[in-house]
Amino acid sequence: MAKTASLQIDDKAYNLPVIQGTEGEMAVDTRRLRAESGYICFDQGYGNTGSCDSQITYLDGDNGILRHRGYPIEQLAEHSDFVETAYLVIYGELPTEKQRRDFGTLLRKNAAIETQMQRIFEGFPDDAPPMAMLSSIVASLAAHYPELATNSFEKDLQNFDLAAAMAISKLRTIGAMIYRYQNGMPYVHPKDIPFCENFLHMMFSEPYKDYVAEPEVAKALNLLLLLHADHEQNCSTSTVRMVGSSAANLFTSLSAGISALSGPLHGGANTAVMNMLQMIHDEGDDGTRFIEAAKSGNKSTRLMGFGHAVYRNFDPRAKIIGEACEKVLAKLGIEDPLLAIARNLEQAALKDDYFLSRKLYPNVDFYSGIIMRALGIPVNMFTVIFAIGRAPGWIANWREVASQPKGRIYRPRQIYTGPVTRDYVPMDKRG
Ligand code: SDX
Repeated sequence: MAKTASLQIDDKAYNLPVIQGTEGEMAVDTRRLRAESGYICFDQGYGNTGSCDSQITYLDGDNGILRHRGYPIEQLAEHSDFVETAYLVIYGELPTEKQRRDFGTLLRKNAAIETQMQRIFEGFPDDAPPMAMLSSIVASLAAHYPELATNSFEKDLQNFDLAAAMAISKLRTIGAMIYRYQNGMPYVHPKDIPFCENFLHMMFSEPYKDYVAEPEVAKALNLLLLLHADHEQNCSTSTVRMVGSSAANLFTSLSAGISALSGPLHGGANTAVMNMLQMIHDEGDDGTRFIEAAKSGNKSTRLMGFGHAVYRNFDPRAKIIGEACEKVLAKLGIEDPLLAIARNLEQAALKDDYFLSRKLYPNVDFYSGIIMRALGIPVNMFTVIFAIGRAPGWIANWREVASQPKGRIYRPRQIYTGPVTRDYVPMDKRG
């Protein structure tokens, strides 16, 4: 492997160091390029730029590989659960029995949302976008727990374990409370029960009848959250790192990540997929007509849940969720016509050169909504579920930024293409 890369600009050659990752990824280290040559690199959307080195998740988009701290997502999906995978993503190792028990205890102890915080919900219309509510209310954790949100890397890292457990647990509870608030139902206090069962309890319990999740339902939610736990430097995770690099505390940085995730091209896609499937169903189409519209290149008729900024092959998570769909619906005795439409779309797209030539395959969002709907979760809450799942990844990435020795703030450059210098024109001289 070359140790340096040579860049020829005019009659001068610049030797730049080469960096190699533990999985063999190669990068040209251009940190000195501007100082030595006056040139910067230009990579709109950072599609070919490494913003950091990270030890959390490895992703190979060409070969559909996803590993968290070295463990393949397929093995975690089969053997682990969300809380254990959250621990792995955050702390770097699978927990011992004691570590798992202590982590679970910390999550349960910090599940409730205090009365003063509950008043924030009342400030929103009951049809407010759930992700707008989630981002705002998670940000308010910094105000309610200032001792965990000092905006000092050193102090906030000293209290990291509590802040991380609080963030994961309370973000989940806030999600359930948003659902209750928007449906005019009283909040349900968390119980001393496992994470996913507690979420479903807080979502669906009635005043005089607790909702007790069937094992299959809790298992399906565990799988969904686990599969969303982290995903390298995606839009929302990079946002958390960007905000965290200013020494903003964990809660504030998570709030920014939630806002980034809400976009339909990112975490909002699971909602867009279900709306797309429902529209196809309501038009009496089995997907055949829609596939043709999706090839128009028109962003408004895109095949949502297909394509990915990194995967040029199957998103491994889509495979796992797609396989789980049948099992979960069969166990719950649910026939969902939208699943048949999704299968038709997938089979048609995987034979169609428009999609194959652009390497567009199903991503994590294509089937996840089918399972969430089967669990009774309304479509407008799908991205909230994604956020609950992604919290460990965001937290782990914030911790890497907060722990970096020099604590450099993220500050990309740009190429200016606006007007060149010109003098001020008094009002009476303007055209
Ligand atoms: C997530 O980054 C992550 O890791 C994200 C995520 C995570 O876990 O954090 O994996 C979660 O965000 C998954 C992606 C969810 N989004 C969607 O499903 C929305 C639909 N997908 C697309 O909008 C699109 O595929 C993106 C945004 C996901 C990726 O866009 P790219 O790589 O920038 O591709 P592009 O927009 O440049 O499109 C390239 C070509 C274009 O056609 P041409 O101009 O070459 O003719 O592919 C076409 C696009 O029109 N295209 C699609 C398409 N996606 C791209 N055509 C039809 N349907 C689609 N879904």
